[in-house]
Amino acid sequence: MAATTGVVSTLALRGSLVGQLDSQLIAASDRSLRAPDRSTEGSTPPAASQLPADALPPGLNVPGQGAGTINLFVHDGTARSGYIDSAGDFQTLTTAQVTALEAIRADGRPHSVELGTLGAYRVVASTTSDGDLVVTGLSTEQATKTVREYMAVEAAVAAAGILLALVVGRMLVRRELRPLDRVAATATRVSELPLDRGEVALPERVDPVDTDAGTEVGQVGAALNRLLGRVEHALAARQESETQVRQFVADASHELRTPLASIRGYAELVRHLPGDLPPDAVRAMGRVESEALRMTALVEDMLLLARLDAGRPLGTDEVDLAALAVDAVADAHAAGPDHVWLLDLPGSGGATDSDDPDDLDDDDEQAACRPSAVVVGDDHRLQQVLVNLLSNARVHTPAGTTVRTTVRADGATVTVRIADDGPGIPAALRGRLFQRFTRGNAARSPGAGSTGLGLAIVHAVVTAHGGTIEVDPDAVGTALTVTLPAAP
Ligand SMILES: Nc1ncnc2c1ncn2[C@@H]1O[C@H](COP(=O)(O)OP(=O)(O)OP(=O)(O)O)[C@@H](O)[C@H]1O
Ligand SMILES: [Mg+2]
Repeated sequence: MAATTGVVSTLALRGSLVGQLDSQLIAASDRSLRAPDRSTEGSTPPAASQLPADALPPGLNVPGQGAGTINLFVHDGTARSGYIDSAGDFQTLTTAQVTALEAIRADGRPHSVELGTLGAYRVVASTTSDGDLVVTGLSTEQATKTVREYMAVEAAVAAAGILLALVVGRMLVRRELRPLDRVAATATRVSELPLDRGEVALPERVDPVDTDAGTEVGQVGAALNRLLGRVEHALAARQESETQVRQFVADASHELRTPLASIRGYAELVRHLPGDLPPDAVRAMGRVESEALRMTALVEDMLLLARLDAGRPLGTDEVDLAALAVDAVADAHAAGPDHVWLLDLPGSGGATDSDDPDDLDDDDEQAACRPSAVVVGDDHRLQQVLVNLLSNARVHTPAGTTVRTTVRADGATVTVRIADDGPGIPAALRGRLFQRFTRGNAARSPGAGSTGLGLAIVHAVVTAHGGTIEVDPDAVGTALTVTLPAAP
């Protein structure tokens, strides 16, 4: 826009200046045409003239001709020419300049011509009644200079205008977009809330000043508030139905405990009845008992998970994980004598082979000088974590597998790593290892009575204690590390 205005106004100014110059040129040409040829009368040019009197064109030496005027007078094939310089003196024209002037069409109308060192000129050529050619010209230098100055001023004004428009525009846009920034900040805060689990409070809302339906930004703010309201409502409904399902599982598990205990009790009673039972009945009663035991374990696991899901408060005992590990490894050794069980405690200076019972007994004596591996939590649940991990290392690996249990404390955290050099966790399970009912191929752990709840319970207990559990992806075999905050 600024460029168009500039070009149009410059062209208009140039047209007007050229028009003005042309009027002056016509007047100068008229004066030249009316000038008598004084050279024949023996007149002399002014003292400052570079021209001899007989070379001075008559149209130059007349009152009214200004600096920059050029004149050519051709009479009987003889040309006389010259121009008035800026000091008012008469000067000669070069042959090339004269030739250029002679080439102008003698139609009495202004034409443009380049005269070498003299620059651009507007010239009028006319033929007198005597047949003489008179060419008069005026320099366009002043007009060109005026146009150039005008263009420079115009460019400076346009640049300043554009700069000002940019600065003011930016300020206005920023001010107008500030409410949008606030709406975006609300959306960002909501996006950072943990919405995927548990009870969800969604207190974030766009401020009422940014929800004015009269503005576009206000409409966005109001729409976001409506969306947040609906999401909050949906999350609350989801949470309620989850709670109901959890409560149902907890109640069902709890209710199943008593009849299961009765089944086990009656099965045992039948086995101990006086008199011999037929062998098939003895086998059937044995199966009833073992299946009832398996179901009891499953029901206990489900009840525990339902309670952990419900966020039931855990015990806050001071639990020494090193002592727990000693007991858990000793039990694992008793249950799986075909495996090699190693125990590495803080400050013990290396792994102890639990095959040597004395080593484990000595451990109590060393406990006093060991760095503390004490955490705050629920004694039974933490023991269950170690038991589940060690039982996996026993059940899901072949005989002869070495299982190393390492306990470490660094003041802020206590870690327990249970690593075996068995076949490793099946690749298909890795992404969902801690989900409920995730279990591998039953053929690999025959007779294990596996339910796939062991690691889900480990994960839930560790998380409820503010800790983490990780699988080492580079380990040979299987290595799981539990990290818990150390007791203050
Ligand atoms: N040390 C291990 N070596 C090889 N595979 C393992 C090991 N630990 C776990 N797994 C695999 O991960 C699966 C899930 O383990 P998880 O303890 O959750 O269930 P489970 O042992 O099958 O059953 P549960 O522990 O409830 O009796 C197992 O079925 C097994 O395939
Ligand atoms: Mg298990």
